[in-house]
Amino acid sequence: MTPALVQFIQLLAALAFIGGLRMMAHPRTAARGNLLAATGMLVAIVVTLLDREIIGYVTIVLGIVVGGGAGALMALKVRMTSMPQMVALLNGLGGAASAAVASAELLHMPGSVPAAGGEASPAVASPDPIILIAIALSALIGAVTLSGSVVAWGKLEERGIFRRDWSFPGLRVLNAALLAVALAVALVLVLSGGPAWALVLIVLIAIALGVTSVMPIGGADMPVVIALLNAYSGTAAAATGFVLKNPLLIIAGSLVGASGLILCRIMCRAMNRSLANVLFGGALGGQAGTRSSADEVYGGRVKGSSPEEIAMMFDGARRVMIVPGYGMAVAQAQHAVRDLYRLLESRGAQVTFAIHPVAGRMPGHMNVLLAEADIPYDRLQEMDESNAIMDQVDVALVVGANDVVNPVARTDPGSPIAGMPIIEVDRARACIVVKRSLSPGFAGIPNPLFAAEHSVMLFADAEKGIREVVSAVKELAG
Ligand code: TAP
Repeated sequence: MTPALVQFIQLLAALAFIGGLRMMAHPRTAARGNLLAATGMLVAIVVTLLDREIIGYVTIVLGIVVGGGAGALMALKVRMTSMPQMVALLNGLGGAASAAVASAELLHMPGSVPAAGGEASPAVASPDPIILIAIALSALIGAVTLSGSVVAWGKLEERGIFRRDWSFPGLRVLNAALLAVALAVALVLVLSGGPAWALVLIVLIAIALGVTSVMPIGGADMPVVIALLNAYSGTAAAATGFVLKNPLLIIAGSLVGASGLILCRIMCRAMNRSLANVLFGGALGGQAGTRSSADEVYGGRVKGSSPEEIAMMFDGARRVMIVPGYGMAVAQAQHAVRDLYRLLESRGAQVTFAIHPVAGRMPGHMNVLLAEADIPYDRLQEMDESNAIMDQVDVALVVGANDVVNPVARTDPGSPIAGMPIIEVDRARACIVVKRSLSPGFAGIPNPLFAAEHSVMLFADAEKGIREVVSAVKELAG
């Protein structure tokens, strides 16, 4: 293939990435957008393989079989609720791959590694400093992404050592010092023509930095951290693109980097936090807590209910708002919820779904589940829209949501979710909460909504509970 043809095909692939991303911004076009971007990636891979014959095709096929096989197995085995953990691991592997490829390039470079006896061959030109900068950045960012992602995975899984609070005074200073040393070694690497020891040192420091910077961050902030690590993995890939002089990798990496950052911003806004507060809040010692105990919050005020009673509450309701949360995902209750929505609509109620941007455990979690259950997209409302009409809502039905409807976010500045905008079902005329117990949500705090005057609880698995409510509504209707 001529270089011009390769570049033209690469341009088409890049356009497919950008067009695909744009289409993914809307649920109606998202599936086609995904397909377009994936086709772009296929074209990109094929043209790269045809253009460069650096390694044999047997190695490439082996890599695809082993890597693709492991990926497919992980994807098939992962539970829907563990998706963020899987994304964290994939980010980490992306960072590791970028760092590994950039490191391999350095070792391949003529003149980069001292010849036997410690002397570089005088006949060999020293490596291009720009490429050395890209290699150093790729190794640094890629290794931070790897270790940071492993820690994020462990925190989400709530495994062993990852459950402890690791913040201590001086941690920020330690992190700043690690970063400063890594950058100084990177400078040495660039100025002295790329000695391998410097690369190894950068990778080791970056691995430590990834651990120390993610370890003190609370589990509830992990979604933001994962989006940030995603942005890092894109940036590392873009740096590797400079190393390999591959424009497509630069474009794809930049797109991942930019979209990860935008996602971070959206999530920070949804939690009313700054990125600095998410990243350094733990290291600063966290929020001074004035946490109320579950007994203080609930003490004899929680009213349990039954499907029949709930059917009666729905009987006169004209405006119903359904607020799904993580529990709906765990129970896979979206189909039962759809049946209830259709039933209530057929009986003259106007039903909407209020979607909190961080409901569930990953961005768009609720949208995916509701789309899977064929709930029309125009029935979904964003948080602000939902809150704007809350005073007119006759019945708010909370399905397995907890933190995203916890009014403590507005009232207790010492709470871990202080300032996070919530779906204000405490302002609806009546509120029904379906969950199995009074256990807390992700943030680990009691929720006064459950004990509010206008609230009743249906203690049940969301799928089973909603199915029973559907039957009760049908029975009541005769
Ligand atoms: P949570 O506050 O985590 O509450 C979920 C509730 O679901 C729990 O209280 C649990 O109560 C209930 N539940 C679990 N299994 C259930 C089942 N089978 N049937 C019925 N209920 C069940 O969920 P949320 O309101 O969606 O808030 C999300 C939280 O996760 C936020 O704190 C957010 O910051 C955090 N987070 C979000 C993301 C993203 S990007 N969405 C990622 C990571 C973390 P029972 O055990 O009593 O049933």
